[in-house]
Amino acid sequence: MSGRQHFEFLREAAPVVLPSLLMCDFGNLQAEVARLEEAGVKSLHLDVMDGSFVPNFTYGMPIVAALRKLTDLPLDVHLMIDRPERYVRHFYEAGADLITIHAEATEQLEQTLGQIQALGAGAGIAINPDTPVSAIRDQLKNCDLVLVMSVPAGFGGQPFDDRALAKLEEVRELAPHALREIDGGVNAATIERCAKAGAELFVVGSAIFSQADYPATVRGLTELAAGAKKQV
Ligand code: DX5
Ligand code: ZN
Repeated sequence: MSGRQHFEFLREAAPVVLPSLLMCDFGNLQAEVARLEEAGVKSLHLDVMDGSFVPNFTYGMPIVAALRKLTDLPLDVHLMIDRPERYVRHFYEAGADLITIHAEATEQLEQTLGQIQALGAGAGIAINPDTPVSAIRDQLKNCDLVLVMSVPAGFGGQPFDDRALAKLEEVRELAPHALREIDGGVNAATIERCAKAGAELFVVGSAIFSQADYPATVRGLTELAAGAKKQV
């Protein structure tokens, strides 16, 4: 599948819970991926941090490439790095299907989104809690996905910031073509509100990796999101 096909697949499959590979056991990636596949996840969310755009530092292309060899699931790569235009090609070549860049991290948002799409991947814009949707309004037409952060990018395990909900609704209104993704503090207590506000992809870190039973957790969260969506 091409990036575009992955995008259509995820939209069809929504609500989709994406485990964030930030708190997983990196010493045992193969087993972690196998457990997540058995749990029925439809895509993996990869948090790339550079110690500059965000204070935390995680991993780069080699881990994406290693995951690419371990699974056929779409890889949703969240770049929390300064000037991502320098690296989108490298991440695409490592195996990324969707590449999301932060609006706050680049002065070349439009060009970089175009570059990602030209490579053949889906192009996403992420915004941190303090960035309003109005800041990316002109760029919405150029992206395939909008990632609304419900915590400041950088660390797992932070509390959900409610301001994300109105932003999801605003994105739904302004850019119905874009896939809406929420990331940060998503768990059984917050996922239904996210679904009602229009989220389609739900990134979940600590609420999955703190649990022993991944399948039950993924299933439970997906059911909560699907139930809430029906009520809208
Ligand atoms: C934070 C990352 C998230 C994070 C989510 O900067 O983008 O993907 O790992 O973790 P939780 O679900 O624990 O907030
Ligand atoms: Zn993320």
